[in-house]
Amino acid sequence: METVVSGIRSTGNLHLGNYYGAVQNFVKMQHEYNCYFFIADLHSLTTHPTPVNLHSSVKSVLVEYLAAGIDPDKATIYVQSDVPEIAELYLYMNMNAYVGELERSTSFKDKVRANPDNVNAGLLTYPVLMAADILIHHATKVPVGKDQEQHLEMARTFGNRFNRLYHTEYFKEPFAFNFSHNLIKIPGLDGKGKMGKSEGENNAVYLADAPEVIRKKVMRAVTDSGPTVENQQKPEEIQNLFDLLKVVSTQDTYDHFNNLYNTMQVRYGDLKKQLAEDMIIATEPIRERINAIAADTDYLHKVAQLGADKARESASKTLREVREIIGFRKF
Ligand code: TRP
Repeated sequence: METVVSGIRSTGNLHLGNYYGAVQNFVKMQHEYNCYFFIADLHSLTTHPTPVNLHSSVKSVLVEYLAAGIDPDKATIYVQSDVPEIAELYLYMNMNAYVGELERSTSFKDKVRANPDNVNAGLLTYPVLMAADILIHHATKVPVGKDQEQHLEMARTFGNRFNRLYHTEYFKEPFAFNFSHNLIKIPGLDGKGKMGKSEGENNAVYLADAPEVIRKKVMRAVTDSGPTVENQQKPEEIQNLFDLLKVVSTQDTYDHFNNLYNTMQVRYGDLKKQLAEDMIIATEPIRERINAIAADTDYLHKVAQLGADKARESASKTLREVREIIGFRKF
């Protein structure tokens, strides 16, 4: 069975875009692959979170992935910092990563531009840590978006350099993996691009949002003054609302509002009310599980421990072999 590894940024809560665009695929993948899903809390140190914020964001990610359907008995779900072998492999991999190529990475250049006062070495070597995350389990499939393509290429480069340096074929090449071919794009509520946390408070609907919050956000969604001819093409902000209906509502509801739009009788207030109620229904079971799991400290402790044990079993085997290959030998 092929191995899948994916790191989850431990910043912020899951919104509908994360859920329908990615997490639902993780839930399916866990039945078909040997999956390792981890919370990338070491990576998050580049921005110097406070201890309290660090812990609470790791907790909310863990809780929400479990609530969304990741099964700790099927997939290995763990917190990156619970597996010290990753940090050790990162040290070794740093010897195979050249400063020049790290400086040329687009994500590094973007971060430098965004935060010129915090260009730390951890930021520069972020792709090396990511390579260690993947190589430590010999993963060949990495479900990530387009923005991570360059990091994966670097992971292949570092693994290959290690292989060449030690005349071995130890590390396999990892590749980006699209589990589902028809990737669903979930638009935001601001009338422009996709749903995202960085597009402002009201653009994204979170799985943990209370029903009143969802209603308020949806009612504020951007619309226009209405169609002026029959069957006209929908402007982006209206198309976005229909795309959201398509995901959370029934086909009948979608057709109903689509017909009203095409005959110029649509009332956006009614459409939004329906959309909000259907979003609430679609997310209700997850929201209930989020609240239940977050309150169950014993369960969270058990899940994190089980994940760490399984991840360390795989990681420590790799580390033993890597140390042997490098030439660290017992006297
Ligand atoms: N860099 C990834 C992101 O920003 C997160 C990540 C860290 C990751 N380590 C990984 C993803 C290993 C896949 C595999 O989304």
